Amino acid sequence: QPPSGARVTQAELVVVANRLPVDHVTDGSGEQSWRRSPGGLVTALEPVMRRADGAWVGWPGKPGIQLDPFEFEGTHLVPVTLSAEEIELYYEGMSNDTFWPLYHDVIAEPRYRRVWWDAYVKVNRRFAEAAAEAAAPGATVWVQDYQLQLVPRMLRESRPDLIIGYFHHIPFPAYGLYSQLPWRRQVLEGLLGADVVGFQRVADAGNFARAVRRVLRYPTKASGIAVPHDHGTTRNVLAKAFPISIDASSYVELSQRPEIRARAAQIREELGNPKKILLGVDRLDYTKGIRHRLKAFGELLEDGKISVEDVTLVQVASPSRERVEAYVQLRDEIELRVGRINGDFDTMGHTAIRYLHQAYPREEMVALFLAADVMLVTALRDGMNLVAKEYVATRTDNRGVLLLSEFAGAADELSSAVRINPHDIDGMKEAIMRAIEMPPAEQGRRMRALRRKVIENDVAKWSQSFLAALETTGTANRAIRRN
Ligand code: G6P
Repeated sequence: QPPSGARVTQAELVVVANRLPVDHVTDGSGEQSWRRSPGGLVTALEPVMRRADGAWVGWPGKPGIQLDPFEFEGTHLVPVTLSAEEIELYYEGMSNDTFWPLYHDVIAEPRYRRVWWDAYVKVNRRFAEAAAEAAAPGATVWVQDYQLQLVPRMLRESRPDLIIGYFHHIPFPAYGLYSQLPWRRQVLEGLLGADVVGFQRVADAGNFARAVRRVLRYPTKASGIAVPHDHGTTRNVLAKAFPISIDASSYVELSQRPEIRARAAQIREELGNPKKILLGVDRLDYTKGIRHRLKAFGELLEDGKISVEDVTLVQVASPSRERVEAYVQLRDEIELRVGRINGDFDTMGHTAIRYLHQAYPREEMVALFLAADVMLVTALRDGMNLVAKEYVATRTDNRGVLLLSEFAGAADELSSAVRINPHDIDGMKEAIMRAIEMPPAEQGRRMRALRRKVIENDVAKWSQSFLAALETTGTANRAIRRN
């Protein structure tokens, strides 16, 4: 039985994520309000949440804010307070300076600090308690991402009546890397508190199952993991790929708005009407391969294969995790490289790289996608990469070329993209030239195939298939417990 006492809400579906689906905004007159965050997950879950009278447990994004639960566009929002120190230890430290680099193949060196781990445990417990309080008896709770890997088990212990799902939005690394983690056992046990553990790629689910076999010695069969339960029984945990997607139809709709199409034309004009516009859109993160991309582009200019009159690279690098040292360093390196390339090749009328360390609303992003002849997704490691899918969704004329790293989860589905290995600079240079010179017929053939994938598998289908698997597995596990 759930603990008694006053409960904020009694939701049948509770989503638990590090961030709430809203941003706190202050307008010109100092008026404060909440605005829906632009993220895809938020859009995906909104209809599901509305139908289930759902609750969303998360951090409001700023230190020390103490807020009662409130209603927002049909969802109960349950804010979790984090102090400035907890943000430093749990969010910037353990989440983004340990798990993030470790799970992205140690592109940056992960730091293992015991005080960070202690804060991570404590904050995960706070999220689990808030979720337990918001959930109706027998409810479904869906935990999101690497910041909250201990929550499934904590919830299972306090609320055995719940059906618990977890989705891992980032890669799960090979065991040779994962085994570095001093808390490798606790994290696996934390995740296995769920009935379903979802991953982006088949390979991620495989890496997870292997880690479970090696560390915990639980048997695995196909996608099932037999986890010991009370009195010699076992629960069957499903560990499987559920590749996430975007709200494709909303991107199609935006791409057809006259004002956004006009804005795309204006962007091309403002860049001095180059023959080809290349585009990169990323959070400023070392996993995205921005340095490798700049290197390849700079060398093409040096080699005289392209000129700034004909080709411009627009690089949007949105600010991210700016207090974590690896991100501070990366920004310096990128800005140095952009400055060098532009200094060497710009003319009064044309720039090599238009670099924008800013975040833009979705409308402006769609205008950029429409203006771009070639989209560069050169991640060294990426759970999925939704930008690749967003670009494809907006290309209703079946023109444009997607260059896609095989190290991004999206490469599993988007096999008609021009695939690249970002570590191979010569290979990437050749692929960029091929993309720049690709005849319209080939662009059309590839883009049609890409669009079919993205439009058929949109994010609504993703959440439905995860929740359906969760319902089936969770109900079966519940029956085991009753017997
Ligand atoms: C990735 C993670 C998300 C995270 C997002 C933005 O996509 O999978 O969990 O929310 O990056 O990062 P931030 O640290 O700003 O939340």
